[in-house]
Amino acid sequence: MNETLETIWKRRSIRKYKPEPIPEEDLHLILEAARRAPTGSNKQNWKMVVVTDPEMRRKTAEACSGQMWMADAAVILCLVTLPGEGKTNGAIVLDHAILAATSLGYGTCWIGAYDDAKVKAVLEIPDDHGLVCLTPVGVPAEAPAARPRKPRAVLFAENGFDKAMDYELAIG
Ligand SMILES: Cc1cc2nc3c(=O)[nH]c(=O)nc-3n(C[C@H](O)[C@H](O)[C@H](O)COP(=O)(O)O)c2cc1C
Repeated sequence: MNETLETIWKRRSIRKYKPEPIPEEDLHLILEAARRAPTGSNKQNWKMVVVTDPEMRRKTAEACSGQMWMADAAVILCLVTLPGEGKTNGAIVLDHAILAATSLGYGTCWIGAYDDAKVKAVLEIPDDHGLVCLTPVGVPAEAPAARPRKPRAVLFAENGFDKAMDYELAIG
C-alpha cells in the first residue's frame, strides 16, 4: 500500500490529546495541503481560522457543544465559507488538512456539533459567512481501533443504483 492509502486507512476520530505543541513547520504543511485543495471553478471561496491561543481554544470548544477535549489539542481549525457559497468546497479543503495532519502523525476529529452563533462570536466570523466544520489538530493521547463501516455491497452499486457491488481486498 502506498503512503496516501496508509494515511486514509489510519485516520481515526481522536477525542483525547496531549497538551503538546505542534512544530510550526508541520502546521504550515497542514495549512498548505488545505490551500492546495480543489474548489469548483477554482473559486477558493473559503477561509480557515487557525486557533492557536489556549483561551480561544477553550472558548471554541465551549461553543462546540462543550466538547472541551478539543481544547487540549495544540490547534483548532475552523473552516469558513464566503457569503452565499455552499459548503462542499469547504469540506474538501478541511479533509485535505485532516489527511495531511494524519500523515504527519497528528490526531484530528471532524466537529459538526457546534453553535453557529457562538463559534462566530468567539472567532469574530462575520454573520454572512458560513461554517462548515472544525477540527482539533494535536498529538493524540489515544489510539482507537477503526470504527465499523457498512458492508461494501450496501455502499456501492455497479452500473445502476440497485445493482449491489462487492469486492474482496487483498490487503484486508
Ligand atoms: C461532518 C461530521 C461531523 C462530525 N461531528 C462530530 C462532533 O461534533 N464530535 C465528535 O466527537 N465527532 C464528530 N464527528 C466524527 C464522527 O463521529 C466519526 O467520523 C465517525 O464516528 C467515524 O469514526 P472515525 O472518524 O474514527 O472513522 C463528525 C464527523 C463528521 C464527518
